[in-house]
Amino acid sequence: MSRFTATTFARYKDQGKRIVMCTAYDVAQARIAQAAGIDAILVGDSLGNTILGYDTTLPVTMDDMVRATAAVVKGAPDTFIVGDLPFMSYQASFTDGMYNAGRLMKEGGAAAVKLEGASPLALDLVEGLTEAGVPVIGHLGLTPQSVNALGGFKTQGKDALAAANLMIDAEALAAVGAMAIVLECIPAELARAVTERVDCATISIGAGPDCDGEIQVFHDLCGLGGDFTPRHAHHFAEGGEALTAGLSDYATAVRDRAFPGEDQTTHVDPQVISEAITQVEALLDGRVSPDLFEDPDKSRPEAS
Ligand code: KIV
Repeated sequence: MSRFTATTFARYKDQGKRIVMCTAYDVAQARIAQAAGIDAILVGDSLGNTILGYDTTLPVTMDDMVRATAAVVKGAPDTFIVGDLPFMSYQASFTDGMYNAGRLMKEGGAAAVKLEGASPLALDLVEGLTEAGVPVIGHLGLTPQSVNALGGFKTQGKDALAAANLMIDAEALAAVGAMAIVLECIPAELARAVTERVDCATISIGAGPDCDGEIQVFHDLCGLGGDFTPRHAHHFAEGGEALTAGLSDYATAVRDRAFPGEDQTTHVDPQVISEAITQVEALLDGRVSPDLFEDPDKSRPEAS
């Protein structure tokens, strides 16, 4: 199977093949996503919610993102990995954005980056990064880094003016070179119109079935998100229940002295331990110098 790269997004769009993405934040999740045949993984700043327990993504730092991206690249070395630029890592200046995208690629090992919005600065940055050889995914609709300006986590683009603005933003992102655009929480009709109007691939999360691909948060797909599941998500596995049952079996086995068993245990000749006890007692009694325990070449005391 040929490797999925930045250029595969547009090819899949042209061929009408669906692009499958999910998020991942650590090596174990990345391994699972790659084994499942996911086309591309986003190391989303949603790690602020899923991993760090914040209510929003705003506190997430570049260091959080770089470390998670590097872990995901380790777990899924054959998968296309996108690193997310967190809040205020690119909104203050073009230079910040270029530098921090560089960190995600150089230190994290990402093959592409994602950023939110289509402000003049964001558009300049998408253009500058693209010219510098960095594939960029845009993100429109419900952009969580702007949750305060949006007045909460609400569906976007519901009236004609908002829908027109979103279409203009999507076309602007495509024009400056975005390789794909995530459309989050917008009506399916608007997502379909955007998908038809732009050359680059569109990726839905809560934007209906007519985008070129889909992305979902790992924890929402695997039933690891606690009691809350967003309306646009679905548990394809009940990981939370399976893991709780497994850990509960573990706790019972330890309490019942059924674990660890012979399979998990290493043995040594009991004589070795008798000798060790003799040596420890000699040390505690002051009969030998502590130096003897640091230099394996020095002779051990004889058993008394
Ligand atoms: O951070 C994230 O997980 C995202 C997805 C919701 C697209 O941006």
